[in-house]
Amino acid sequence: MRRPYIAGNWKMNLTPSEGKAYASALAEAVKKAGADCRVMIAPSFVSLPGVVEAVKGSDITVSAQNMADHLSGAYTGEVSPEMLRDIGVNTVILGHSERRQYYGETDEIINGKVLLAISLKMEVILCVGETLEERESGKLEEVLKRQIEVGLKDVLPAEMDKITIAYEPVWAIGTGRTATPEDADAAHAFIRRTVAALYSDDIANNLIIQYGGSVKPGNVRALMAKENIDGALVGGASLKLDDFLPIITFNK
Ligand code: PGA
Repeated sequence: MRRPYIAGNWKMNLTPSEGKAYASALAEAVKKAGADCRVMIAPSFVSLPGVVEAVKGSDITVSAQNMADHLSGAYTGEVSPEMLRDIGVNTVILGHSERRQYYGETDEIINGKVLLAISLKMEVILCVGETLEERESGKLEEVLKRQIEVGLKDVLPAEMDKITIAYEPVWAIGTGRTATPEDADAAHAFIRRTVAALYSDDIANNLIIQYGGSVKPGNVRALMAKENIDGALVGGASLKLDDFLPIITFNK
């Protein structure tokens, strides 16, 4: 059984004090609602310590949105995974399309980060997804296959329980344009087949695959009803309790 996994990617929003206050309110609301899915939030680096503190004692996972591809050294402006672990953050989002698009992260760079995170026993949400141009020119499967094969290169079968994949079509992120549940499910099924071919049916069947791209309270249920959609990676709608809580409690 794959337990639903709802994650909020705050991106570069909410100051540390806003984030801390929101995280406390969220932890309380999630507890009160008796949500039975796994819940994660990913604030910016500077907000992480306050948010970790704010959700202590709850079941909410706190994740980083990115990390350096080295453990330490002369890498000005970077944050090492060891620093994250030191403050109690053991989960990281890697390969988000905004990192790929605006900061030049290649599949090879992302793979280096995945391997580093896993060597420290961290959990990873690996983001994959095609641009509109790639989809329209029929390259969807080719792009997903490459992002998965290169992104997971040298990840051992026994380490795959540390990996979640988020399918985020670039054209659906922050645009209000969601993939139809059918299109998303088809992409998820392809991702699962790709992982089965690389690893095993068992590993593929246990893999959590989140959908991301304009997930809202009004569309989450239809997406989550699909066989291969196991969770959501939510951007804009994760920033307010009134939007995020109904997403977390989609099955209530
Ligand atoms: P969005 O972002 O929900 O604002 O479209 C999703 C994401 O980028 O993770």
